[in-house]
Amino acid sequence: MTVPCIRKMKSRNEKIAVLTAYDFPTAKLLDKAGVEILLVGDSLGMVVLGYENTLPVTLEEMIHHTSAVARAKPSALVVADMPFMSFQVDPTETVRNAGRLVKEGGAEAVKIEGGTRAVPMVEAIVRAGIPVMGHVGLTPQSVHQMGGYRVQGRGPDAGAKVVEGARALETAGCFSVVLEGIPSGLARKVTKAVGIPTIGIGAGGACDGQVLVIHDLLGLVEEFQPKFVKRYDDTGVRIRNAVERYVAEVKAGEFPGPEHGYEDGKRTGKEGGS
Ligand code: KIV
Repeated sequence: MTVPCIRKMKSRNEKIAVLTAYDFPTAKLLDKAGVEILLVGDSLGMVVLGYENTLPVTLEEMIHHTSAVARAKPSALVVADMPFMSFQVDPTETVRNAGRLVKEGGAEAVKIEGGTRAVPMVEAIVRAGIPVMGHVGLTPQSVHQMGGYRVQGRGPDAGAKVVEGARALETAGCFSVVLEGIPSGLARKVTKAVGIPTIGIGAGGACDGQVLVIHDLLGLVEEFQPKFVKRYDDTGVRIRNAVERYVAEVKAGEFPGPEHGYEDGKRTGKEGGS
């Protein structure tokens, strides 16, 4: 899966399946399951690192997790989020940071949040030969400016601004754009207004593709479930049940059983381990 392949999917009316991944085994599983893009999102900060929001995520943390995903050598395109303050200051620093995600992290493209205001940064990164995915609507790095995680683009003026932002990102050279937390009708309008694929999250079914945070899809985060998430499994409950059984068996002296132990004497050839 390459950037030109992703662009072509829109013209062929093929929907694009995107999921976040932050580590090697998950990247392998999601790739085998057929997703076209693995997004190492800065949601990493909230679902893996335990931060309250995405703002504390560092470039080093993004490189660390992107390289784990890239080591899975997925067929899917690996896109890495540029974290807060890694692309806001000036285009030179932005290109250097995007370059580190590619060079050290193994990303094949980067994603940056923001509409029209992100244009100079997108242009600079694209000039350096790095593909960029845009991100408009609800942009979590602007949580304080938005006053919380609120649906964006409601009303004609706000809606027009989202369309204008997506168009500006396309002109600046983005190969696709995430539409997050906007009304479904507006997402349909943006999808028609731009020639690049739109990837929706909380933006309805008219987008060219969909993205979810893998922890939400699997039900690994038990506390909170936004309206736009469809839980495909209760993995959190299943992990807890499995671990409770393990704890009970250890305490009862039932694990390990004789079949998990090694014999004295000859090797059997079935003694592997990690
Ligand atoms: O950080 C992230 O995971 C994202 C997606 C939800 C679009 O930006």
